[in-house]
Amino acid sequence: MKNTNIEKLIIEATKAYENAYAPYSKFSVGAAILDENGNIHIGCNVENAAYPSGSCAEENAIGKMISSGGRVIKEILIIAKSDLLVTPCGACRQRIREFYDKSTLIHIASSQKGFQETFSLDTLLPYSFGPENL
Ligand code: THU
Repeated sequence: MKNTNIEKLIIEATKAYENAYAPYSKFSVGAAILDENGNIHIGCNVENAAYPSGSCAEENAIGKMISSGGRVIKEILIIAKSDLLVTPCGACRQRIREFYDKSTLIHIASSQKGFQETFSLDTLLPYSFGPENL
């Protein structure tokens, strides 16, 4: 594991975390993606007074990657303030699935504790459905 990427991704995801718009849940989340071109894309959760219209940090980071021309998530780091592991929600696991490859790394970090754990997508979303199924 290249710790240099994790450290850089923590710094970038923290910038997004600090800008999160989470007035309802008060649960800020930041995400940073390293794509196949070596570019980093960040996102935060953006909540809405109409609660279901809110979006996740991972979702917004993926949108930025795609609009910048990236197509493969090589690494994604998610950061939140929690003693527990804040892994991507089910919908975001599926969103990551669309742009993953077999080596994609999903890192989880805490704003207080720093880096916690790395998962593969296959661990978080086994037997997944993806573009190859269509
Ligand atoms: N949230 C994320 O942005 N990513 C996750 O992985 C878990 C949950 C957000 C959605 C909502 O704004 C808040 O955290 C509480 O669920």
